[in-house]
Amino acid sequence: MKVLLIGYRGQLGMDLQRTFASEDVMLAGHDTLPVEDAARVDAFLNENRPQLILNCAAFHRVDDCEDQAEAAFAVNVFGVRNLALAARKIGAVLVHFSTDYVFDGPQRNPYIETDAPCPKCIYGVSKAAGELMLQSICPTHFLFRVSGLYGYAGSREKGTNFVETMISLARQGKPIRVVNDQVLTPTSTMDVAAAVRQIVTTGQYGLYHLTNAGQCSWYEFTEAIFHNAGLTPDLTPVSSEAFPTRAKRPNYSVLDNRRLRNAGFSDLPDWRDALKRYVAGRAAAGRN
Ligand SMILES: NC(=O)c1ccc[n+]([C@@H]2O[C@H](COP(=O)([O-])OP(=O)(O)OC[C@H]3O[C@@H](n4cnc5c(N)ncnc54)[C@H](OP(=O)(O)O)[C@@H]3O)[C@@H](O)[C@H]2O)c1
Repeated sequence: MKVLLIGYRGQLGMDLQRTFASEDVMLAGHDTLPVEDAARVDAFLNENRPQLILNCAAFHRVDDCEDQAEAAFAVNVFGVRNLALAARKIGAVLVHFSTDYVFDGPQRNPYIETDAPCPKCIYGVSKAAGELMLQSICPTHFLFRVSGLYGYAGSREKGTNFVETMISLARQGKPIRVVNDQVLTPTSTMDVAAAVRQIVTTGQYGLYHLTNAGQCSWYEFTEAIFHNAGLTPDLTPVSSEAFPTRAKRPNYSVLDNRRLRNAGFSDLPDWRDALKRYVAGRAAAGRN
């Protein structure tokens, strides 16, 4: 199968690269295929004719999106539109990734795929609009909403991932304050990539929530990071009010992976298990 992987240097992109290694994979980045450039996207897909396109490109520095809404929309909305139009033209399957941040409502039980998005920040609005572009243009799509990603490559956009940031702060001996009133499911890019590899062969197109199982606050996640890494820093839970950010984050954005189960797949491993494997793997690779 001829596969085009866009955003291959990112954390999810790197794990997808490994997972699809047995296929004929073409790699594209910001430099070779800027998704916001409709003419280039059309020409590139027409020339290379992939059967499957994995799109990891995103503008997802959540606070920067508040001040750079046009740039966020260029990648997260119009970039998706460009890919969807070109994919439809050549009959390719388009795989795209969205976010739990399309939800920011009063709900305190996991969101299912049929719940209506209700984003409150520009990033969430742009990703929700990107979802609509994909769904309205390209019928042969897989849309995966993921959450709180961490992978060994670290986020290209953010420079690192949350686990590495926390371990680094702890090693520096700094007091650490983490919000305890935002609940989500932190998710390993390795587990997402493995599941994507299986689901995209089913032909059961559409929207899937795809996260590790269980839920926790960022504070509880941080406690578990330190437990697994054998670190005992000065860690304090704080409320979101004590930690003002430009973009409003959801208080609760846990995703029920219902469609995945209905399609005959098992739930992804629990977030604690995924984190344990990640921390063990980084130690085995000699990371401090
Ligand atoms: N990270 C999270 O916590 C999280 C949570 C929920 C959802 N998501 C979604 O999951 C997906 C993957 O996230 P990630 O953390 O793996 O991302 P990442 O590591 O930051 O990588 C993003 C990739 O996007 C590429 N890119 C950015 N702008 C582009 C453009 N205009 N044209 C082409 N490529 C462009 C970058 O390419 P270069 O390397 O060439 O610069 C980079 O490799 C995104 O859709 C994101 O919105 C992420």
